[in-house]
Amino acid sequence: MPDTRQRGRFITLEGIDGAGKSTHLPWLKKTLERDGRCVWITREPGGTPLGERLRTMLLHEPMTPVTEALLMFAARREHCEREIWPRLDEGTWIVCDRFTDATFAYQGGGHGVPLETIAALERAALGDFGPDLTLVFDVPVEVGRERLADGRTLDKFEREQGEFFARVREAYLRRARADSRRMRVIDSTLSPAAVRSELAAIVEALVKEAAL
Ligand code: TYD
Repeated sequence: MPDTRQRGRFITLEGIDGAGKSTHLPWLKKTLERDGRCVWITREPGGTPLGERLRTMLLHEPMTPVTEALLMFAARREHCEREIWPRLDEGTWIVCDRFTDATFAYQGGGHGVPLETIAALERAALGDFGPDLTLVFDVPVEVGRERLADGRTLDKFEREQGEFFARVREAYLRRARADSRRMRVIDSTLSPAAVRSELAAIVEALVKEAAL
């Protein structure tokens, strides 16, 4: 019998640390599940046993920026091949907390790895695979810093200075301007309810498009 299942969709969440993307994840999952859709939530770096071990190294051990980019893509390939691609083929919708745009923003914008180097790694690791939709939660750097100052221990990236996050934010916004169909910038200084109504409209459009 021919397989009539439709491929799932791949949605990624991005933004500087403290932008509030995690706040909206449970709501996004519930919203997508409403019509009986199977939804899987994951994160990067991470998402597989090896990826989670790489995450611990990446978030806590000093290393050169290019090494960081290489390990991000090693974890990402593992994540895609073992988990993401098979699930999309089965029709599952996936929401991933950060993906390749984070490498362009953090290792590229933040740490100065040439964007051509990252693009070459992307091509080698993933071919032309990428998200169907990317939600960029945007806040000014000071707002992100305030939201991070909640008393917990900060990781290596979260301890960076304000200028680092200003470069990361700018890199996200530049990428979003260049690819505005896929990347949607959300003003995350708004109330959670206002952010959700913006998200609802964007997600509804993707769901409709997928049903065509
Ligand atoms: P984050 O997603 O913010 O998780 P948490 O909410 O648990 O702190 O943390 C992941 C960190 O990894 C974040 O500071 C950004 C960084 N990162 C990169 O530098 N490059 C990447 O490619 C990815 C996926 C993440």
